[in-house]
Amino acid sequence: MEKIEIGTSRTYEIHIEEGLLGRVAEECSAVLKSEKLLLLTDSNVAPLYADAVHNALEAAGYVVHDCVIPAGEESKSTEQYLRVVSTLAKKGFSRSDAIIALGGGVVGDLAGFCASSYLRGIPFVQIPTTLLACVDSSVGGKTAVNLPEGKNLLGAFYQPRLVLIDPLTLKTLIPAVYADGMAEVIKYGMIRDPELFDALEKRSWTDTQIINRCVTIKSEVVAADEFDNGCRLLLNYGHTIGHAIEHCSRFEISHGSAVAIGMSVMAHAEEDEATLAKRLDAVLQSYHLPTSCAFCAEELYRAAMADKKRRNQMLHIITVPTLGNGTIITIPVEELYTYLRKGLSV
Ligand code: GLY
Repeated sequence: MEKIEIGTSRTYEIHIEEGLLGRVAEECSAVLKSEKLLLLTDSNVAPLYADAVHNALEAAGYVVHDCVIPAGEESKSTEQYLRVVSTLAKKGFSRSDAIIALGGGVVGDLAGFCASSYLRGIPFVQIPTTLLACVDSSVGGKTAVNLPEGKNLLGAFYQPRLVLIDPLTLKTLIPAVYADGMAEVIKYGMIRDPELFDALEKRSWTDTQIINRCVTIKSEVVAADEFDNGCRLLLNYGHTIGHAIEHCSRFEISHGSAVAIGMSVMAHAEEDEATLAKRLDAVLQSYHLPTSCAFCAEELYRAAMADKKRRNQMLHIITVPTLGNGTIITIPVEELYTYLRKGLSV
């Protein structure tokens, strides 16, 4: 089993192994001295894994309560947040009791924010079951729910006690959801890791190898900048334009697809990097991800200006001058329009 330690203010481990879900009770017992657990999952994941996890935890002596939210981004809401924390209160959860988040990014983000705020913080364990959650959202302690005014506006940095990744759970993903996670995987190759990028081009690594590498990269970045004031911004490669695409499409285009297009636009906008941009497009397309969209530079620029990452009149964006060397640059906001014009014109 691979164990990766995350060196944040409270350190914890990420365990990665095929079949790990079968040892969930043993793994949780090692870090949780709880009497009660809330197993939070969604309507897609519950029929696949909830019973097995529930029964294993109960057999280990925990009192396990289940909470199943409707699958989808709409559940990352204050309504579901209040429903979960009210359940914790009604069931008499104490500060040593815990939440187990079994699912993708929505479940993990909601569970983490509930854990961060109920009784001013109770333990939680992440068991991500999508590729996106394995390589990104379950690692690093960003938790949040959405407000009507925007995504992730109500949240906290709050680290889990443990992350358990069983790559076999990816086998039940529909291709579009798997592809969504691949966009973030390809991002890690672009910003930090030519060897990973190469392996993706050649399809020479297993899911487990890919996840190990991505989690290792993310753990290094998060340890260096837990609270997102510096180098963690690197993880947002393709995201400024990606978020604008998501907005313009009224979230019809998925996060992964939008990030894929955002990375492609950025790569094409970088004058000297036509070769890298072509390699990026080829690898994105080979994983069934888009590299272009119907929106024009003006539309995307307007949407990006409304995004919360705008800092006064300057904007932080990520460029990749050469493969593996993601770089944060600060530009006047108007310059984003130039990137968009250039990147979209190919
Ligand atoms: N998903 C980007 C981050 O965790 O900072």
